[in-house]
Amino acid sequence: MLASQTFGALPIRNDDVDWDTWPVQDYLAENYRELHPADAEVIAHHAELYRKLAPGSIAQSVEFGAGPNLYPLMLAASACRRVDAVDAGAANVAYLTGQLRHGPDASWQPFYALCRRHVPNLPATLPEALSRVRVIHGDVRGLPSGRYGLASMHFVAEGATEDFTEFTEFCRLFARCAVPGGHLVAAFMENMPTYRIGRASRWPGCPVDPDAVREVFAPLTEWLSVTRINADPTLPDYGDSGMVLMTGRTPSPPGRYG
Ligand SMILES: C[S@@+](CC[C@H](N)C(=O)[O-])C[C@H]1O[C@@H](n2cnc3c(N)ncnc32)[C@H](O)[C@@H]1O
Repeated sequence: MLASQTFGALPIRNDDVDWDTWPVQDYLAENYRELHPADAEVIAHHAELYRKLAPGSIAQSVEFGAGPNLYPLMLAASACRRVDAVDAGAANVAYLTGQLRHGPDASWQPFYALCRRHVPNLPATLPEALSRVRVIHGDVRGLPSGRYGLASMHFVAEGATEDFTEFTEFCRLFARCAVPGGHLVAAFMENMPTYRIGRASRWPGCPVDPDAVREVFAPLTEWLSVTRINADPTLPDYGDSGMVLMTGRTPSPPGRYG
């Protein structure tokens, strides 16, 4: 894990980190055991996209670096017949698999209620929505290009490296795994440096802002929308200044619109 590694002045890169040791319970306790105002804003933002998509209209979507966060998977279930939740970390994969097999923790119910309020065509129950999810233990950098009708990413490209060039590469690979004309939806921590979860563990952060996200995604997308929200005082102070939210579409094949 990052805490035990020092590379002098060199930025920490994705392969320098042991993602299997992601501190799932500390991360959940700090971020997702209750519905924070920032989550509600992210859900409201993304719901604008999901409301426009007919139920089941997308064969497959991906959650790029899913971690133990269920709310992006809930939203995707409104439009997607299958949702691939891909993560490199064994502890995250074990948590997600348990949530699907034994039922979601009760703490996710308020998230689902809010998702359904914004996207009423979601299934009646959270387990029904999650039945569309398939958990994949793997490296998102190895995903095939052009597979997914929708690609979703939350706090991954800027939370997977300290190196801005590698951040850009994660974003490029994220966009690349969507079909031409596919939907992209993402959230980034704004200006977040390397940070701590729990008492000891340290994880890489690459500070980015709306301009950086716009600059990286402009050549990769059409219909790009980038916005931001302020830091939420009910969340831990990871040194960030809020969140950057984006939607866009990968360029359509020539002659195809909509
Ligand atoms: C800051 S966490 C975000 C987790 C989650 N998406 C969320 O919304 O809370 C970053 C996640 O990226 C995953 N990750 C980092 N590098 C990865 C890679 N190369 N392939 C797949 N997952 C990766 C980590 O295991 C971790 O779950």
